[in-house]
Amino acid sequence: MLRISLSLLFTLLGYMFFKAVMSTRKRLPPGPRRLPIIGSAYHIPKTQQWLTFSKWARAYGSIVYLDVVGQPFIVLNSAKVAKELLDQRSNIYSDRPTLPMANLSGYGELFILQPYGDNWRKQRKVIAQDFSPSTVRRYYPLQEKEARKLVHGILDNPSTFARQIRLRIGTVIIRVTYGHYVTDEEDRFFSAPVAAVHNFSQATAPGTWAVDFIPMLKHLPEWMPGTSFLQIAKKWREISWNTSWDPYFWCKENHESGNVLLPNLCSTALEAAEGWPSKEDEEALVWAASTVMGGGLDSNASTVQTFFLAMMLHPTVQHKAQKEIETAIGSDRLPTIEDKAVLPYVRSIMAEVFRWNQAAPLGIPHRLSHDDTYNGMDLPKGSLVIPNIWHMLHDPEVYSNPMDFDPDRYQNDAEMEKVTDLIFGFGRRACPGKAFADGTFFAIASTVLATCEILLPVDVQGNKIVQDVAYTSGTISFPSPFDCNVKCRSPKAHELLTQNIAK
Ligand code: HEM
Repeated sequence: MLRISLSLLFTLLGYMFFKAVMSTRKRLPPGPRRLPIIGSAYHIPKTQQWLTFSKWARAYGSIVYLDVVGQPFIVLNSAKVAKELLDQRSNIYSDRPTLPMANLSGYGELFILQPYGDNWRKQRKVIAQDFSPSTVRRYYPLQEKEARKLVHGILDNPSTFARQIRLRIGTVIIRVTYGHYVTDEEDRFFSAPVAAVHNFSQATAPGTWAVDFIPMLKHLPEWMPGTSFLQIAKKWREISWNTSWDPYFWCKENHESGNVLLPNLCSTALEAAEGWPSKEDEEALVWAASTVMGGGLDSNASTVQTFFLAMMLHPTVQHKAQKEIETAIGSDRLPTIEDKAVLPYVRSIMAEVFRWNQAAPLGIPHRLSHDDTYNGMDLPKGSLVIPNIWHMLHDPEVYSNPMDFDPDRYQNDAEMEKVTDLIFGFGRRACPGKAFADGTFFAIASTVLATCEILLPVDVQGNKIVQDVAYTSGTISFPSPFDCNVKCRSPKAHELLTQNIAK
């Protein structure tokens, strides 16, 4: 065993030395100082990397180069550069890196991590058809009803608002992916994906796992000290596998029985294959569906939690939006998704929530599949390209007082679109769930504003308890747990909610 470990070590050192020599010959973008062999590894923080990358934007500019044990990383800190590379040169920037920890944890098959190629194209087509802006309209009634159930439930029990948000958003996405209606948090088709998405976020966070920089570590024996990642990955693999296959099998087996609610992504694909997809198509469908479910769960849940946080801290914004809703649609009915067109201030609140704190501050890394040059800099093939969306949306040269939550900063929809153009990612890999996510978020935001007052919590003496704005680390970032107080605006609003969920 010792002999194998030593020979692995020497091969690794030789490889890293070769890479280091090659990189000195290139005109690489600027970046933090690189040491022999380990490169810039020691500069990369383990948490909230977007904040450190943002500081580097000031020191090094809009393209920052890192070399982590021979693996080149390129951090993009400007929307202009991200668009010029990831959008305009998407033929060579649409691959995904191999992430050893994600692979060990069973996420390698997921559509979101698929290499750019025919398999990815096939899966993307299935998803894009089901979630195109025109197709998603068929899900509006579902999104509206679940938004009303959510608000009704939060009014009954405000202290569990964060869990209720996740449950309702999960109910919507699982319903449209597999045709299953989640009844409560114990439902295994809900609890398993919640765990799997959380693990995915940890497994894919850049800079977190040594095995991502030194893939050979995956061959180490499990008994060796420092290999706890192998145990973690084993546990996560089982969860990710069950999360992906169980609901698919349920949908396939119950397809004819009438238990499966239609339409849904898997049933549509199964019908197209007359119930019997080839093994290859079935695998593609399972991992595409699983990505849709995962992609639509925590990203939307984090966004809605940020909305609650922002509203609680900015009562004047809430009141302005409530007035707009009353003027545009009155108080005799609840807003619908079609009302978005007549509620510009609510639209600007949504854009500001997206800008203020993104669910995916660093997006998902792309991989450069050919050597490239940009403004006189060499960008090596194989680089992991990380768009620092957080910085792009907090650049004081673009957004004045960027840490402030201020929906009035948008003069028109074109300015709001500059935000949504970034937070859903880039080029051919841009999020295919954008229109659907937007519908879910608008349904919840407009229903909350029409019917509720979101207030700071109070202590026993009635004093307001100030809540911090802090965010968790990981590929999907959430507001750190906070309390809020939710009150119904009027008995009429409550009655409307009760009537609508009973229908
Ligand atoms: C607020 C909600 C959401 C946000 C902020 C968001 C953001 C993102 C981002 C940043 C990416 C990576 C894009 C890139 O690589 O450049 C992505 C990919 C993806 N998202 Fe979303 N997303 C959201 C909701 C959804 C929903 C509701 C669905 C499903 C209906 C979904 C499905 C996907 C899929 C399948 C991918 C992988 C695309 C690919 O690799 O080709 N997302 N999303």
